[in-house]
Amino acid sequence: MPIKNRFSELLPEITAWRRDFHEHPELLYDVHRTAGKVAGLLRDFGCDEVVEGVGRTGVVGVIKGRTDSKGRVVGLRADMDALPIEEQTGVEYASKTPGKMHACGHDGHTAMLLGAAKYLAETRNFDGTAIVIFQPAEEGGAGGLAMVEDGLVDRWKIDEFYGMHNMPGMPVGQFAIKPGPMMAAADQFDITVTGKGGHAAKPHECIDTTLTAAQIIVAVQSVVSRNIDPLKNAVISVCVVSTDSTAHNVIPQVVKLKGTARSLDPQVRDQLQEGITRVATNIAAAMGATAKVDYERGYPVTMNDEQATDWAIDVAQGIAGSVKTDMEPMMGGEDFSYMLNERPGAYIWVGNGDTAMVHHPAYNFNDEAIPAGSSWYAGMIEARMPAA
Ligand code: NI
Repeated sequence: MPIKNRFSELLPEITAWRRDFHEHPELLYDVHRTAGKVAGLLRDFGCDEVVEGVGRTGVVGVIKGRTDSKGRVVGLRADMDALPIEEQTGVEYASKTPGKMHACGHDGHTAMLLGAAKYLAETRNFDGTAIVIFQPAEEGGAGGLAMVEDGLVDRWKIDEFYGMHNMPGMPVGQFAIKPGPMMAAADQFDITVTGKGGHAAKPHECIDTTLTAAQIIVAVQSVVSRNIDPLKNAVISVCVVSTDSTAHNVIPQVVKLKGTARSLDPQVRDQLQEGITRVATNIAAAMGATAKVDYERGYPVTMNDEQATDWAIDVAQGIAGSVKTDMEPMMGGEDFSYMLNERPGAYIWVGNGDTAMVHHPAYNFNDEAIPAGSSWYAGMIEARMPAA
């Protein structure tokens, strides 16, 4: 299954959509223009059903195959939102909105999935139902969760999910994927240490919050080194230390710590939350202070199902000839994880060539990746639901 010829023909059209999205970036759930254009195109393609407003501003398109002997339903997902970054690419279709840009290539993901939807609606060379899913708010807004909570899985009876992200530094149009964790669970914590402030020359009359906070910063590192299985992965970084005092001679009443905790395994994640809370509160107690720990769970681990990964590799191999599978997971977070928590599926990277990294003001999605990306999306449908 090489690159489908149809996508070479459609390349100028898909590229034009991509550049239009690029010129008009929208943030989080505020993707009304993008979602409106996506829904309009899906209707033009002749999708059997197009529903807007799923998970606030998500769009779902339904494409029925020629036959439906097994009743299988496969979901393909792209993200639509941009980032609050001032664009520095200098391209003629650069963002028209100051302070916003498509710096993660979601414009490309949306365009590639639209291309696949157009092809699938034209050919319908499969036995079952394809669902194309365009989600808002991937960048920190949990739009994938919003769509799941809005009934995405049950309403369309989706059996499997497949998603894709571009990856700078990988040859354009090449693929990389592995079974198990692809992206990390990304959590954050806030620790508020409260003691008794006072004169720095009279520490015996105070409960020293800065010394307590310093001991907590050191001690939470032992959660990774002493509580987590050394063969597993975890990161705890304390990134902010702040007080309301600016004086050299005042012991502050309160010291605040902020940090991130990342893991690739649900059990390790539980251990990080329990460990940080236990160590911080008990160190504070030992010092006569108190520590309040607010641990906020972000996106879960993006977990590729083993069998679905094999299927994704087969399709990618057919397109690119070979697939990189000897890769390390990334400790960034990904909102597609909420869909993969509901049903098995896989998340794949497609090479963006030698460009700036995602989230950089000079980053741009590489349009040369479109034929490979659209072919993979469409290929997953034809491979998982071969025409009867
Ligand atoms: Ni992204």
